Amino acid sequence: MDFGCGAGFDLYVASRIVGKDGRICGVDLTQEMVSRAVGNLASAGATNFEVRKIDSEDLPYPDNFFDIVISNGVINLSPRKSACFREIHRVLKPGGRIQFADVVLENDLPAELAGSLEAWSQ
Ligand SMILES: C[S@@+](CC[C@H](N)C(=O)[O-])C[C@H]1O[C@@H](n2cnc3c(N)ncnc32)[C@H](O)[C@@H]1O
Repeated sequence: MDFGCGAGFDLYVASRIVGKDGRICGVDLTQEMVSRAVGNLASAGATNFEVRKIDSEDLPYPDNFFDIVISNGVINLSPRKSACFREIHRVLKPGGRIQFADVVLENDLPAELAGSLEAWSQ
């Protein structure tokens, strides 16, 4: 599963890696990105996928479901990071793996950035 799949590029790569007998799932917060990912995967010829819109960080999958969860540039956007990790941990099989890339702050932001909604989304 790709948590916050956006337009679906990483899903496309994953679809090639798992092959026709594997299955990939993407979730995203917005219907616009879900539609874009579905369109991109379909036009690339992928058939082993599904992409779903999620509300908040609640994942529409049962416990212990996925072998691998990937995510790129998503958890840093969520004000509920613990909920993201709790849900990812819940849907991963025991011994499953998560690989994610994100922005991490090592120091406090300057006040003018911390209070800026525009900066939050950059
Ligand atoms: C910076 S884009 C990255 C997209 C994709 N992972 C990539 O690498 O191209 C962030 C994506 O995360 C989605 N997103 C933001 N918060 C989310 C959340 N709480 N749960 C799921 N998706 C979220 C956004 O809609 C957007 O598509």
